[in-house]
Amino acid sequence: MNKAIIVTGGAGFIGGNFVLDWLATSDVTVINLDCLTYAGNMENLASLEGDARHIFVKAGIGDSVVVRGLFEKYQPCAVVNFAAESHVDRSIHAPEDFIQTNIVGTFRLLEAARNYWNTLADEDKAAFRFLHVSTDEVYGSLKKDDPAFSEENKYEPNSPYSASKAASDHLVRAYHHTYGLPVLTTNCSNNYGPYHFPEKLIPLIITHALAGKPLPVYGDGQQIRDWLYVVDHCRGIRRVLEAGRVGETYNIGGWNEMANLDIVHIVCDLLDEFRPREDGKSYREQITFVTDRPGHDRRYAIDATKIEKELGWKPQETFQTGIRKTIQWYLDNPEWVANVQSGSYRDWVEKNYAERG
Ligand code: NAD
Ligand code: TYD
Repeated sequence: MNKAIIVTGGAGFIGGNFVLDWLATSDVTVINLDCLTYAGNMENLASLEGDARHIFVKAGIGDSVVVRGLFEKYQPCAVVNFAAESHVDRSIHAPEDFIQTNIVGTFRLLEAARNYWNTLADEDKAAFRFLHVSTDEVYGSLKKDDPAFSEENKYEPNSPYSASKAASDHLVRAYHHTYGLPVLTTNCSNNYGPYHFPEKLIPLIITHALAGKPLPVYGDGQQIRDWLYVVDHCRGIRRVLEAGRVGETYNIGGWNEMANLDIVHIVCDLLDEFRPREDGKSYREQITFVTDRPGHDRRYAIDATKIEKELGWKPQETFQTGIRKTIQWYLDNPEWVANVQSGSYRDWVEKNYAERG
């Protein structure tokens, strides 16, 4: 078994941040398996050009022939599975891709990992890890005064996205219990930070504000999410990979619950400070309340006690420090923003918001 890991979905938002963070602190080669959907972007990895420690393979996790070949060729000591369809609104419009990638794709990846793992010597078998990156959305929606999600919460997914992630989590669990595959699962809250695709709330608000467009707030804007800076999530995953107990699930979150409208206000106020509007008015003027998302989960919150106590992980950024870094990154990278706002992105924005009135 070599010192190499397979990272799937490593051209996306969190996967890309993970690969950059990994190679900034380790010389273990990354085999980056990503089929480059609309959300995959090689520009996220531009700083790794010419770096022999990063091997990019353009293929889907469901492509068993390619995936089997990668296991045989590179003999990895771990797989970190980020690859997924990840946007709730898209899952409402078109669930099929979510079933194919998140469920069927994860199943095929597990099969390839299991077949490879069975060929390993005992010591390598014991050291191998399959880490599955999942979401807090599998636990469903909390009421205002409910305790935050712990690893013991039952699964109650409400959107096609969260249902498909829940199914993949169950498959991962089953591969451990049935076949002994050494798996780990992480369930994380909402991430934000550099390279976040501007279909998601925070980058959408930043980019729309700067473009002078309406800032769409779904429903009453009082839905609560628990925001975590993406690099803190990546560090949490590394820590779980290093020291997590096989077969266990770890919740990762920022202890940072905020209502969507408060998030939008903070982003507007920081943009007022960093890049004031020419007319001297606040970006808050652009806020527009639009029709709510069907089945919209009211509140997510993570109880991160287990990963803190067992593995000593804690977020390093507060929301105040992380959001300033994030906004600065978007201001410093207008070309990245312009390039991702391609034809298909514009089609999506038109489709999603036209119907909301
Ligand atoms: P993303 O949509 O930004 O990126 C997904 C990446 O996966 C893209 O590069 C895409 O090209 C690739 N991909 C899609 N289908 C693929 C397939 N069949 N084979 C190979 N590659 C494929 O997603 P993200 O926000 O970076 O999320 C990464 C993972 O983290 C997902 O599993 C998601 O469920 C989970 N997660 C996300 C958040 C969040 O706030 N974004 C929070 C918790 C968990
Ligand atoms: P999103 O970034 O899509 O993440 P998720 O649905 O996985 O939590 O949305 C975060 C919250 O912001 C969610 O409650 C929906 C809301 N939202 C808006 O109010 N307006 C928007 O334009 C978008 C994309 C999301």
